[in-house]
Amino acid sequence: MYTANEKRYEKMKYNRCGKSGLLLPALSLGLWHNFGDTGVYANMEEMLFTAFDNGITHFDLANNYGPKPGSAEANFGKILKEHLSSYRDELIISTKAGYDMWEGPYGNFGSRKYLIASLDQSLKRMGLDYVDIFYHHRMDPETPLEETMGALEQIVRSGKALYVGLSNYNGDTLRKATAILEERHVPFIINQNRYNILDRTIENNGLKKASHDLGKGIICFSPLAQGMLTDRYINGIPQDSRVRTDGRFLHEDQVEAQIERSKKLNDIAAKRGQTLAEMALSWLLRDEDITSVIIGASKPSQILDNVKAIENLTFTDEELKEIDELSK
Ligand SMILES: NC(=O)c1ccc[n+]([C@@H]2O[C@H](COP(=O)([O-])OP(=O)(O)OC[C@H]3O[C@@H](n4cnc5c(N)ncnc54)[C@H](OP(=O)(O)O)[C@@H]3O)[C@@H](O)[C@H]2O)c1
Repeated sequence: MYTANEKRYEKMKYNRCGKSGLLLPALSLGLWHNFGDTGVYANMEEMLFTAFDNGITHFDLANNYGPKPGSAEANFGKILKEHLSSYRDELIISTKAGYDMWEGPYGNFGSRKYLIASLDQSLKRMGLDYVDIFYHHRMDPETPLEETMGALEQIVRSGKALYVGLSNYNGDTLRKATAILEERHVPFIINQNRYNILDRTIENNGLKKASHDLGKGIICFSPLAQGMLTDRYINGIPQDSRVRTDGRFLHEDQVEAQIERSKKLNDIAAKRGQTLAEMALSWLLRDEDITSVIIGASKPSQILDNVKAIENLTFTDEELKEIDELSK
């Protein structure tokens, strides 16, 4: 039986999520990879324990995380029940619906039918009565925004989620969604988007500015560009890396296309006394609009490396300029 480290709250930084009452750890742990049925159960346990022992109180899931879809929630639920249930009130657990989950017309996007049914399934898989944050996972060009936001409202009113979030929205749609949610007094507090040194989309699609203007938090996913912003690929492609073990969303050609930049960024990090992973996370967390970064990991040692990012969040103008040059 796991007992959490007594010193778990000594080092982590907790940031306020926009203008809400919720504080999130600067680093959160995502269960997109390595927690499905192809992962190693004992490693999943160790990664969750390492994270919590180091003050990472927030675990991010989605209905479809696996493979197979749903299995990350099921594995997480099992570990929660066996080891973490006494810490439930110290944890922020999020899940999402929006991408393909089940066969037929009701298993994806943003209808009321899909979102409500999907969260019920997620709660069952995780063995929970409620999640702390429930997200709509992607914009739906067909379903009226009123319907999707109405489903989020009902989910909160029914006690199945404490807060709601939006993921992969752009600035324009975020502003429209916020107007609906605020009129209905729905506790919408957070945007989840991809943001890292190599992917600056939210700076250009209005999301970052809208989020700031509206007082919402931003939590960044793939802050390490799935491993490309680490030293993982500097000397070739290791057999135990994501590209080799689970190439669904990260391919060799993507890594090769920007390996020279990674090497140069690695040099800047070394001069700062950081690993590239630490610097990539510090670069995000230096920005007050960013509430948290959701890291992925394949082993506990990566989590231990990554939490060190909060030890140095200051960049010189020269460093920022060099990094900007390399992200073009
Ligand atoms: N909302 C959405 O649409 C969406 C989409 C994607 C992700 N997400 C969320 O974001 C989370 C994180 O995404 P991600 O896994 O792509 O994040 P990431 O942090 O960019 O990449 C994680 C990968 O980087 C490598 N890594 C991590 N720390 C390292 C270190 N210190 N040194 C060397 N390598 C290191 C590991 O790769 P190896 O496996 O090669 O060791 C790890 O699996 C997901 O789990 C999910 O919760 C959300």
